[in-house]
Amino acid sequence: MNYKFPENFLWGSAASGPQSEGRIHGDLKGESIWDYWYEEEPEKFFNKVGPEKASQVYTKYKEDIQLMKKTGHNSFRTSIQWSRLIPDGVGAVNPEAVAFYNSYIDELLSNDIEPLINLYHFDMPKSLQEQGGWMSRQTVDAYVRYAKICFELFGDRVKKWFTHNEPIVPVEGGYLYQFHYPNEVNLKKAVQVGFHENLASAQAIKIYHEMELDGEIGIILNLTPSYPRDDSNPEDVKAAAIADAFFNRSFLDPAVKGTFPEELVEIIKELDILPKMEVEDLLTIQENTVDLLGINYYQPRRIKAKETPIADINHPMPDDYFDNYDMPNKKMNPYRGWEIYEKGIYDILTNTRENYGNIKCYISENGMGVEGEERFINKDGQIEDDYRIAFVKDHLRYVHQAIQEGANCIGYHMWTCMDNWSWTNAYKNRYGFIAVNLEQDGQRTIKKSGYWFNEVSEKNGFN
Ligand code: BG6
Repeated sequence: MNYKFPENFLWGSAASGPQSEGRIHGDLKGESIWDYWYEEEPEKFFNKVGPEKASQVYTKYKEDIQLMKKTGHNSFRTSIQWSRLIPDGVGAVNPEAVAFYNSYIDELLSNDIEPLINLYHFDMPKSLQEQGGWMSRQTVDAYVRYAKICFELFGDRVKKWFTHNEPIVPVEGGYLYQFHYPNEVNLKKAVQVGFHENLASAQAIKIYHEMELDGEIGIILNLTPSYPRDDSNPEDVKAAAIADAFFNRSFLDPAVKGTFPEELVEIIKELDILPKMEVEDLLTIQENTVDLLGINYYQPRRIKAKETPIADINHPMPDDYFDNYDMPNKKMNPYRGWEIYEKGIYDILTNTRENYGNIKCYISENGMGVEGEERFINKDGQIEDDYRIAFVKDHLRYVHQAIQEGANCIGYHMWTCMDNWSWTNAYKNRYGFIAVNLEQDGQRTIKKSGYWFNEVSEKNGFN
């Protein structure tokens, strides 16, 4: 079968500033929570590798853009680091950062690669975290100022903006499940953080639209379809719907529809942990929804009705309403510990079509992190990552089917372009089309999947 994609389909990959750029002496970048957390607790990071060098994109971006061309990119998403552009989060703009991002964007454009720019990828400036981070209303104001500065500086050339990447992750990682700084467990705080992120997004969208810059603005969400253990068991189905409300609809509904899911609001009211807000906030969220949606898809969520006792009635958690279901015989990526379920990508696109007004969307991340890829180096020094090619193909077939059925999906981006720093997993699992050799000053080598992707992009599909 021939899988042909719509004209002008976006082919490319995604990265983020904090995971790829690195720092050099004299770049005047301020500290983000990642720089700070690594300084405080380096042992929390795989092999104690921190974000200071990352993949050295800050100095190697021109070379990297040539490699993007060789790997079929007609588009590429990265993020501006707030702590690079405005080192203390609220004060003066760093001229070195402006020069860097200008040159990066211009270089992409002059190589016919459309830059898609995200504003927040988990990287709170440290000085703002000290005042509460997303817990604090002042952070919302500071973020909106930062967003406006970005639109003013780069909005003449960047035509697709995103307010956040995976805003549920700072909620989960920072305030529920302890994998991001400040590493707390507190649902009340988690709710406040999520609310402020939603509000910040809506306020930035409002400003962007007021500026009439002739582009689009959206949000990037990691959607994890929640499948009940047993479709015919109403308790399982209800539990899955609650998990969906907590982890997907908490951002998807306000972003696209301007409202919060009722099931979630009910629970939060019952627990008496409604977030603090000002009178006009809900209207701001209602009136300023996204133009397009980025969808990151890695894994589904398997849910069953709550069977285990609630861990601590004095400290509520989302997991008081469902149990995760360990489905037998599921296909796994053993390195990351994530289930691989290709049809999930189709289910998300279909849900978007049927229940979210078929809003314009694209797959903004999908990918497979594998440890020890050196095992697959052939005699010519190339990593033969056939497993990655199979992974992408299997997902693309489902994207294709969803589009055939009417989904308004305009592109597919892989996570990631070149191997990059995966937060506390550092360089454990490699995701890129392009290998980065940390022992050899970050030397780049295109993997087999990179050449394969180039063919797919050239043919706008595959057989
Ligand atoms: C997404 C993020 O969750 O998945 C990326 O947007 C992240 O920042 C990627 O790196 C892969 O996940 P991880 O945790 O293996 O790096």
